[in-house]
Amino acid sequence: MNVPGTPPCIPGHIAIVMDGNGRWARARAQPRSFGHRAGQKAVREAVEFCLRRGVAVLTLFAFSSENWKRPDAEVGALMDLFLRALDKEVDELHKNEVRVRFVGELSAFPEVIRTRMRGAAERTAGNSRLLLNVCVNYGGRWDIAQAARRAARDVAAGELDVDAIDETTLARYFCLADLPPPDLFIRTGGERRISNFLLWQIAYTELYFTDTLWPDVDQAELARALDDYARRERRYGRAPEPAARTG
Ligand code: FPP
Repeated sequence: MNVPGTPPCIPGHIAIVMDGNGRWARARAQPRSFGHRAGQKAVREAVEFCLRRGVAVLTLFAFSSENWKRPDAEVGALMDLFLRALDKEVDELHKNEVRVRFVGELSAFPEVIRTRMRGAAERTAGNSRLLLNVCVNYGGRWDIAQAARRAARDVAAGELDVDAIDETTLARYFCLADLPPPDLFIRTGGERRISNFLLWQIAYTELYFTDTLWPDVDQAELARALDDYARRERRYGRAPEPAARTG
């Protein structure tokens, strides 16, 4: 589904798994945190690209529920990076009329980070040129579980009829329920998997995989993903369109 106002060949909503920071750093004999810092530059490239092309929503997988299992030093470096990025990037994002939201189980983050996330979201809430969803401590299965939990609570409170639960009613309980689902899912870094990113939301999303490591992603790489997307025929389960008649 296209976001209103976006030409059909431009995805209205792009979701990205930014993979490859660690390998990029290793290739330079540097710690993984060096790769994450380089990854921050690629985030800027992606935001700039979406602004230029008129993409309405960009959803980034910045920290998965499983990333807590990484060594303490790496998790600490990522938290540090998020804090500094929140201080440094928000002015520029705001200037470019980007609205920022944080999506996931935010209660697991230290209060200092949560306060900054809230501040960034509140400050940019009135912007509408691009919506940037930063998924942190997010997992697709967590999202399904929290949706089920909230629906069950509404049933218990008498606000939702069990027999009325169908795909449409349940969809309202998922993260990003206020948005059209992603049109294009991009994963960098060579792996061909979803890795527990948006599961419910990408049922009919076009998937694009590239071997390019996330810190090397630039406008040209993203343009290739969009060119590829423009050639896709989206059918949402329907039969293919009959071939155009000739002569
Ligand atoms: C995956 O690469 C990347 C991450 C777990 C972190 C992503 C974070 C950033 C790009 C930092 C900036 C983000 C924001 C929103 C400020 P990996 O470490 O799994 O790489 P590997 O597969 O090569 O080991």
